[in-house]
Amino acid sequence: MNIHDFHRRKVASEKISMVTCYDYWSAQLLNDTDLDTLLVGDSLAMVMHGFSSTVHATVPMMATHIAAVRRGAPDKFIVGDMPFLAARRERNEVLDAVCELMQAGSNAIKIEGAAGQLDTVAHVVESGVPVMGHLGLTPQSVEGLGGHKVQGRTESAAEKIYQDAMALQEAGCFALVLECVPQNLGRQITRSLDIPTIGIGAGVHTDGQVLVLQDMLGMQPQFKPKFLRHYLDGHAQLSGAVNAFHHDVSAGAFPNCEEIYR
Ligand code: KIV
Repeated sequence: MNIHDFHRRKVASEKISMVTCYDYWSAQLLNDTDLDTLLVGDSLAMVMHGFSSTVHATVPMMATHIAAVRRGAPDKFIVGDMPFLAARRERNEVLDAVCELMQAGSNAIKIEGAAGQLDTVAHVVESGVPVMGHLGLTPQSVEGLGGHKVQGRTESAAEKIYQDAMALQEAGCFALVLECVPQNLGRQITRSLDIPTIGIGAGVHTDGQVLVLQDMLGMQPQFKPKFLRHYLDGHAQLSGAVNAFHHDVSAGAFPNCEEIYR
């Protein structure tokens, strides 16, 4: 997959698959899958570092994870998230942040929101860096939104997201993540845009789907928002494997005679 494939896929009505990836070992695993693209999302602040929101992600934190993912997944198209407020700074500082994420190994960056930063998006695109937009539930604005809630439920809120989507396309975005919006709005925006939409909780009509890897692998069984499908009972399977090791050690059953150096 390269930057041109995103548009080609939309024209050919071929869906785009994306999952988050934050580290070397899962990147190696995903590099060997058919998955189209990886997102080093700022959700890593929560999933990998245990923070309560993505507000805690920083540019150096993102760059460290992007570099690890690039080393593990040399063949995949990698999108790296611009973290909290990084796109709202003076132009030189924005470009420094973009530079750090690109030199760490991103093929593109993702910027949340539209209002007040369309010029920035256009400037980054003009500078030769592909930008993915992100609308609907934008988790970096969790405090302003009053929580992680479905967005665009009222006519005026839906219209705002629709207009922002058009403006981001105009500013040069090559694709757009739509997070937690009603399916009808996801369909309307997807039909109106020339660039592909990649949905998470945005219904079936978007041009692609993205999930957080640990969520789809069921690593936190109690975390099951409506849009999420667990493709594995990962928590039970992995803890089961570790417990099996523990019990073998306790019982003196590991290592056996074939697992020792003579
Ligand atoms: O950071 C992230 O994981 C994301 C996805 C939810 C789209 O932005």
